[in-house]
Amino acid sequence: MDGTLAPLLLLLLLFLPALLLYLRRRPAANNHCPHPNPVLGNALPFLRNRHRFLDWATDLLAAAPTSTIEVRGALGLGSGVATANPAVVDHFLRASFPNYVKGARFALPFEDLLGRGLFAADGRLWALQRKIASYSFSSRSLRRFSARVLRAHLHRRLEEGGELAAMFGSPGAKRRFLRDVVVSFVMAGKDSTSSALTWLFWLLAANPRCERRVNEEVSSSRHADPRRADAGEDGDGDGYDELRRMHYLHAAISEAMRLYPPVPIDSRVAVAADALPDGTAVRAGWFADYSAYAMGRMPQLWGDGCREFRPERWLNDGGEFVAVDAARYPVFHAGPRACLGREMAYVQMKAVAAAVIRRFAVEPVQAPASMETPPACEVTTTLKMKGGLLVRIRKREDDAAQQKLT
Ligand code: HEM
Repeated sequence: MDGTLAPLLLLLLLFLPALLLYLRRRPAANNHCPHPNPVLGNALPFLRNRHRFLDWATDLLAAAPTSTIEVRGALGLGSGVATANPAVVDHFLRASFPNYVKGARFALPFEDLLGRGLFAADGRLWALQRKIASYSFSSRSLRRFSARVLRAHLHRRLEEGGELAAMFGSPGAKRRFLRDVVVSFVMAGKDSTSSALTWLFWLLAANPRCERRVNEEVSSSRHADPRRADAGEDGDGDGYDELRRMHYLHAAISEAMRLYPPVPIDSRVAVAADALPDGTAVRAGWFADYSAYAMGRMPQLWGDGCREFRPERWLNDGGEFVAVDAARYPVFHAGPRACLGREMAYVQMKAVAAAVIRRFAVEPVQAPASMETPPACEVTTTLKMKGGLLVRIRKREDDAAQQKLT
């Protein structure tokens, strides 16, 4: 063989598999794929921007014609779509629910931790657990909510769930499964609410006008009387109905999660090829992500002031909280797999925030909080504040005494 042809042939052989993969996985004409590279996909820009991944993805989604992008992995592996378009979110989570599953992509990495619990399961195993768990989240249960009651409920329902119990033959397997369920619930409830509260306290510090309004509301509640502050009607702080009446606090928490959703990006896997409502083509096996973080920062969804913290946007003229469609605000997911603990989460977060804010001023130790210089995010299973939020706590009575002196 001619010596000059040999290196060329070698190169062709090396790149042929990648070229074939690329051609096979080439996007449909309607797909928008920013910065595609035939061999490396989007891997390079991803690596360059991984320290600001959420904001980078938000920029890409905001620049896409329909707020949906195709994402390509290196060598055509690990491809999928990501969206911040409510119609597409609705399609993934509600209209085409059976086609978008958690799949092995979620279950395998979390196998040791979550096992076959509600969070990781799909199909019949998920449906049965969901039905049983949903009894525990009724409003009646919520009024009597406590970890002990929740565990007792789960145990009883599990025993009752004949079909479910039959899926786990030995007592050991049943015990392991019960443990999976409890771990799922602890994970679901603890990290998400603590993430939301951390950002709430920072956002209130950065927006003193809103902090004053929350303080006014929680201080005018029946339990603001210091002699009763620790003993609500159920002997456990503010009562359930008391908390329900705190509309401004409810709005402030919702607004904090709009800007900093505890689950910033959620993911599914497409079982079969599909066409999304905005024309994007999806192949079988592709991941299908939506970014609640990006959606909270889209001017077309929340107006030009979308990056401002403005709890008032959630209130009607009478000052009452008005919810929006979950496909536009998918902070608690939507459809048949929507968060079961949403109401419980609000009860917990409002109870903690009201008890703290009523009695204490919470001031970040670092530079004064400002919307222009927000803390960095850290994405783990939930959205954390990098380094946590160090605060100085000051008793409100000190404020009052100080005001009297001046
Ligand atoms: C601010 C607090 C919370 C947020 C933002 C939140 C958000 C979410 C999201 C996004 C999902 C969907 C996850 C997925 O399928 O990929 C979910 C599911 C779930 N959440 Fe929450 N959650 C919160 C608090 C809670 C609490 C307190 C509980 C109960 C202890 C809870 C129980 C669940 C359960 C059981 C599911 C699984 C539902 C299913 O797969 O059918 N969550 N949550």
